[in-house]
Amino acid sequence: MISESDVLESLPDGIIGLDSNLTICSFNQAAEVLCEVSRTTAVGRPLTSVFRKDPDFVAHVTATMSSGRLLTDHQQNLSRRFSGPIAVGVTTSRVLDNNGAVVGAVVALKDRSGIKALEGAALRKDRLAYIGTFAANLAHEIKNPLGGLRGAAQLITRKTKDETLTEYAELVIREADRLNTIVTSMLDFARPACRIANKLNIHQLLDSAVELLKGEGVELVRAYDPSLPSVIGDSGSLRQVFLNLIKNGVEACSDSSGNKSTEGATPGRVTIETRIITDFHMTVPVEPVPVEPMEDEENEAANTPPGTRSGTMAAVLIRGTGTGIEDADMEKIFTPFFTTKPRGSGLGMALSLKIVREHHGLIQIDSTPGKGTTVTVYLPTAFGPTTGE
Ligand SMILES: Nc1ncnc2c1ncn2[C@@H]1O[C@H](COP(=O)(O)OP(=O)(O)OP(=O)(O)O)[C@@H](O)[C@H]1O
Ligand SMILES: [Mg+2]
Repeated sequence: MISESDVLESLPDGIIGLDSNLTICSFNQAAEVLCEVSRTTAVGRPLTSVFRKDPDFVAHVTATMSSGRLLTDHQQNLSRRFSGPIAVGVTTSRVLDNNGAVVGAVVALKDRSGIKALEGAALRKDRLAYIGTFAANLAHEIKNPLGGLRGAAQLITRKTKDETLTEYAELVIREADRLNTIVTSMLDFARPACRIANKLNIHQLLDSAVELLKGEGVELVRAYDPSLPSVIGDSGSLRQVFLNLIKNGVEACSDSSGNKSTEGATPGRVTIETRIITDFHMTVPVEPVPVEPMEDEENEAANTPPGTRSGTMAAVLIRGTGTGIEDADMEKIFTPFFTTKPRGSGLGMALSLKIVREHHGLIQIDSTPGKGTTVTVYLPTAFGPTTGE
């Protein structure tokens, strides 16, 4: 036989019973957990004393008792002793005896903190989407007049014989190109998740990135694992990732004034290594950037919940002998616009992380200040033959 108190204790909602003087006469287990007040402390004490930090709540319950004004799932925050305030839905009712006289009140408290957190996440996502659209529009608007400026400066260089004027016009062209690169990165950053999903040969992507960075005075060494399987993704975006990361490795081999270390005795070196990792498992505690799933997901690793990656992964290690990253900078390097370079935009790492996440991969950084940095990109592998880019 189930007793009334068993029923009360089993309810997921906090239930508070009050007598006609608003003294607490019953306080179930869920109420203890929600309010962080033990039953022994609450029972026998006035509501005004136990909930002295929540005068609104006390006023609502008092109004229920005196004038019969009932609340149904009224949203409000309640203070707690140890944790911060909790969002609850409050429902109140009067308790009547057999003669219809008011002998007390009952309050039900529903935990709304989960819903509040979800609403918060949805709002943040909306805000991010809004900022993304705003940045994309702004970048787009800048690109057109920038093209005009560059064109005009180019005309000046062709028409004038004045050396100083030519020098100034060339400066305008160089700066316009720099601005164009920044704006293009901003557009890339703001655009929605990449949607083209092909089987890709990582080595081809790495080769094309290496080709573009040759001649920078830094030795680029390739150490590829020929058995590396394909990955599924968007070739343009992934090539951009490898280009950004190898370029960072090359730039880290330059000293702060921008001189390549080849001028010294030992030239800088960036090694690009690939490996297959068959038993990969890693849990990422937080997933700050919401990612959209790619189409054509056929990989076990790609379908794991956010924050967890497991299965077979292709690893690309970009190992540089450069400056390394200071401990204080480590947590900032993925923040858009964080840069330690006089002419950097600080978008390379942020954009690379966004793209790798869209491909259900991870980026890991190991760095020793003054010695060098290894950046590893893990991407889920695809099975079957590569069909090209
Ligand atoms: N391989 C690396 N070695 C040393 N520092 C690095 C490396 N990769 C990134 N960093 C640090 O992280 C910062 C941010 O890198 P990110 O690629 O986002 O921007 P950037 O290289 O400064 O500018 P951009 O990529 O637009 O040219 C760099 O300025 C640098 O301080
Ligand atoms: Mg960079």
